[in-house]
Amino acid sequence: MPEKPSKSVSASAIEKHVYKVFPNDMNAHDTVFGGMIMAKCDRLALVVAERHSAHVCVTAAVDSIHFRAPAKGNDTLLFSLSLNRSWGSSMEIGARVVAENSYTGETRHILSAFFTFVALDENDKPIDVPAVVPEDRRQKRRFDNAEIRREGRLKTRAQLAKVTEDDRD
Ligand SMILES: CC(C)(COP(=O)(O)OP(=O)(O)OC[C@H]1O[C@@H](n2cnc3c(N)ncnc32)[C@H](O)[C@@H]1OP(=O)(O)O)[C@@H](O)C(=O)NCCC(=O)NCCS
Repeated sequence: MPEKPSKSVSASAIEKHVYKVFPNDMNAHDTVFGGMIMAKCDRLALVVAERHSAHVCVTAAVDSIHFRAPAKGNDTLLFSLSLNRSWGSSMEIGARVVAENSYTGETRHILSAFFTFVALDENDKPIDVPAVVPEDRRQKRRFDNAEIRREGRLKTRAQLAKVTEDDRD
């Protein structure tokens, strides 16, 4: 069988994409609306998935979203996303958002999350994507941890499918 093609992590990664917070980004608590940050991560993660797979991709799952600190008015948000691992048609993309005070250079970690995207063919059926080659220690750690999270996701999916099936009886 021919070997699966592979790509590096850096070939699809997004490093410190800049978004300047304006007043229309705030919630009633006067911190940045978390839904805006999540939507932006989803959009950027899609770009990573499409760069890696060269196919149309859809969000299959999002897990472990952690808002670690609030972002504030006038912050500059920096979005970094990269492919942790790919399997058959699915890919896990890690997102990290930091807020920068652009006057002082001080940064705060705002969000971490993991997105699973699935690549689709022209008939909207899942299609295999290239493998990913981790190149340094950090990428290798993310690659290994992604497998642990995938096992959890698939286990939960199977358990929920079973419960739903039992519920129909
Ligand atoms: C994602 C989707 C294409 C998967 O289709 P499916 O018929 O379940 O396909 P399969 O069971 O063959 O799974 C395909 C891959 O998706 C993965 N997958 C499916 N559901 C998943 C979930 N909830 N979490 C993680 N991975 C999932 C499978 O593990 C498999 O990965 P692999 O090929 O790497 O082994 C389908 O559920 C879908 O279209 N969902 C809606 C997507 C959408 O509208 N997103 C929002 C707008 S972009």
